[in-house]
Amino acid sequence: MSPLIFATNNKHKLEEVQALLGNRFKLKTLEEIGCFDDIPETGHTFTENASQKSHYILEHFHMDCFADDSGLEVDELNGEPGVYSARYSGSRDPETNLRLVLEKLEGKTNRKARFRCVISLILAGKEHFFEGTVEGTITNERSGSAGFGYDPIFMPDGYSITFADMAPDEKNAISHRGKAIAKLAEFLGKANDK
Ligand code: IMP
Repeated sequence: MSPLIFATNNKHKLEEVQALLGNRFKLKTLEEIGCFDDIPETGHTFTENASQKSHYILEHFHMDCFADDSGLEVDELNGEPGVYSARYSGSRDPETNLRLVLEKLEGKTNRKARFRCVISLILAGKEHFFEGTVEGTITNERSGSAGFGYDPIFMPDGYSITFADMAPDEKNAISHRGKAIAKLAEFLGKANDK
């Protein structure tokens, strides 16, 4: 079984991806390969950031790996917070960031938004990208306590509840990350069968 590095230290993300990949690939986190570096994320797009992270692992650890980058894009805010989702207000506090989005949208009728996730996989020195998006709207008030980040103010199209009102499985089935990971899993499954 080939070990594959997932450039994250987020255990929740790792479990989610490992479940989708089954036992065909043994995933390892950055911690598990002894990488405690603050990997630079200085790109202007999710693709650039995901690619920057996977190339960092390739250059420093010479192993097959993948990295993801994701965030929220709000149409009325010209795609913000985008790649700055984790620290939109200048703080890493999710509640402060979420409140800033609600403030900026106060009185606005166009509340269309989407979550986007891009994965960069480097396998045998070749890079492959997988992308997932989920369309929705920003609610007027926060609702729900599950999930993380902007989940309490994001209502996916076709639903009348937010991501934070959903059980994890329900969210993963339609989420940007779930979709990108499903594409990665399909690709890796085929690559492994060869
Ligand atoms: P990262 O890709 O894990 O670095 O995510 C960057 C930021 O985007 C997070 O800190 C969140 O603010 C936001 N984000 C990404 N995915 C989600 C999600 O599924 N729900 C809520 N917020 C998210």
